[in-house]
Amino acid sequence: MHDNEQVSDDERVLRRRVGATETRRANRGWWDHDADDYQAEHGAFLGEVDFRWCPEGLREADVRLLGELAGRRVLEVGCGAAACARWLATQGAHPVAFDLSAGMLRHAARAARASGVPVPLVQADALALPFAGASFDIACTAFGAIPFVDDSAALMAEVHRVLRPGGRWVFSVTHPMRWVFLDDPGEGGLTAVHSYFDRSPYVEQDDRGVASYVEQHRTLGDRIRELVGAGFRLLDLVEPEWPAGHRETWGQWSPLRGRLFPGTAIFVAEKPATA
Ligand SMILES: C[S@@+](CC[C@H](N)C(=O)[O-])C[C@H]1O[C@@H](n2cnc3c(N)ncnc32)[C@H](O)[C@@H]1O
Repeated sequence: MHDNEQVSDDERVLRRRVGATETRRANRGWWDHDADDYQAEHGAFLGEVDFRWCPEGLREADVRLLGELAGRRVLEVGCGAAACARWLATQGAHPVAFDLSAGMLRHAARAARASGVPVPLVQADALALPFAGASFDIACTAFGAIPFVDDSAALMAEVHRVLRPGGRWVFSVTHPMRWVFLDDPGEGGLTAVHSYFDRSPYVEQDDRGVASYVEQHRTLGDRIRELVGAGFRLLDLVEPEWPAGHRETWGQWSPLRGRLFPGTAIFVAEKPATA
């Protein structure tokens, strides 16, 4: 799109290819700009020292997907306000939390002061981790970074590099089948409108056609292929069910849709102990 070309309203939200640089710039800008609103809307649900995997509310304390934590070096990828890392610290783990966005890390620093649970915070891109090889026992993220990078296969390879042999990698993302539907928590979100196989990213762009938000879709098969391609072994794929009595809507996640189909996929993988 040329600089002087204007886009119409119906071109502000679309599915189109986006390069790596435009994707990174869009997402850093988006999360910096949205950090205060995001925390105001979701901070109470996420807690200051808590580890929830998804809008369905599943807690690590209940499912223990990360395995033994005491004494383990844990990397939280795309940590946002880093509530998960602080909870990990209370379990005897040694977490390091990183995020691309200084705006989100500002909330992490504030929450550390408020809760009295400090954790090391690093500003970094998940595609270029500033950590030595084999320096962590566990890596994890609840919806961080993965949906927002153009090359999630490269992200898997970076996490594989920084994990020790036998290390575990657990991440949650929007369940790929959600991409078939509109982002609507109500009746409008019950009708299939997009092809599951269309990998074009969801893009919001400004009036000059420059992306301001980019989110990527991969099918279930793509995700497994990226994990296996990076050298991981898949141990489990958890599809949390909507709990009875859970009334809280989060964006497109709602009791109505949660009763009918999954909203989150949690991949549990390990780096084999021997090559
Ligand atoms: C939906 S939030 C999830 C954060 C936290 N787990 C939570 O539940 O609030 C996504 C996070 O991914 C971060 N992120 C996006 N792209 C990233 C990248 N390339 N590297 C590291 N973090 C990234 C964003 O800045 C944001 O904090």
